[in-house]
Amino acid sequence: MRIPIVGGNWKMNTNRASARSLAQAVTSACSSHTHNTQVVVFPPFPYLVEAGVALGGSNVMLGAQDAYFEPDGAFTGEVSLAMLKDCGVSFVLTGHSERRHVLGESDDLVNRKTRATLDAGLSCILCVGEKLEEREAGQTDTVNERQLRAGLRGVSADQMARIVIAYEPVWAIGTGKTATPADAQTAHARIRSVLADLYRPAVANATRIQYGGSVKGSNASELFGQPDVDGGLIGGASLKADEFAQIVAAAAAPRS
Ligand code: 13P
Repeated sequence: MRIPIVGGNWKMNTNRASARSLAQAVTSACSSHTHNTQVVVFPPFPYLVEAGVALGGSNVMLGAQDAYFEPDGAFTGEVSLAMLKDCGVSFVLTGHSERRHVLGESDDLVNRKTRATLDAGLSCILCVGEKLEEREAGQTDTVNERQLRAGLRGVSADQMARIVIAYEPVWAIGTGKTATPADAQTAHARIRSVLADLYRPAVANATRIQYGGSVKGSNASELFGQPDVDGGLIGGASLKADEFAQIVAAAAAPRS
């Protein structure tokens, strides 16, 4: 049985006060579900410590939206994994489509960040997903497979226990357009078969694959009801504690 995981990616939103109050609100709104669902929030870097304090001793975990792969040195503006650990972070996002397509991160850079995250002893959510023109050209599976194989290069089967894959079709992010549950299931099953080929079926079956892209309180249940959808990575709706908790509750509900 894979334990569902729901991430709240706050992106470049909140301020110091609202990050603190959102973390507190998420903690109390999600408390009844964290025994059977993993919940992680990803505040902006400057608010990590404050948000971490607000999460207190709850089961809601702290994540970082990015990290650099070098341990220290002259890398102006970058943040190391040791710094993030020092701030109480246990999850790091890599390969998010905004970093790939807005900030220009390559598959190779995503792989370095993924490996460095695992080597630092942290868990990693590796994001993959196709752009609209790629989907329309019938390249969804090819793009996901390329991003998976490149992102996981050098990652051992043992380290896969600390990897979560997030399938986030780029055309569904922040657009209000969600993949249909059937489309999400098809992509997730294909991703799982690539993992089985890269590792072995037991590793593929144990790896959580989240869906991300315009998940809301109103559509979470049908998406998370799919056999290969193990929770979600949430952007806009993670900024409202009540709606985020509704999404977490949908992940916590038993799959039929
Ligand atoms: P939205 O939920 O706002 O579409 O964002 C999804 C996402 O990018 C999460 O990482």
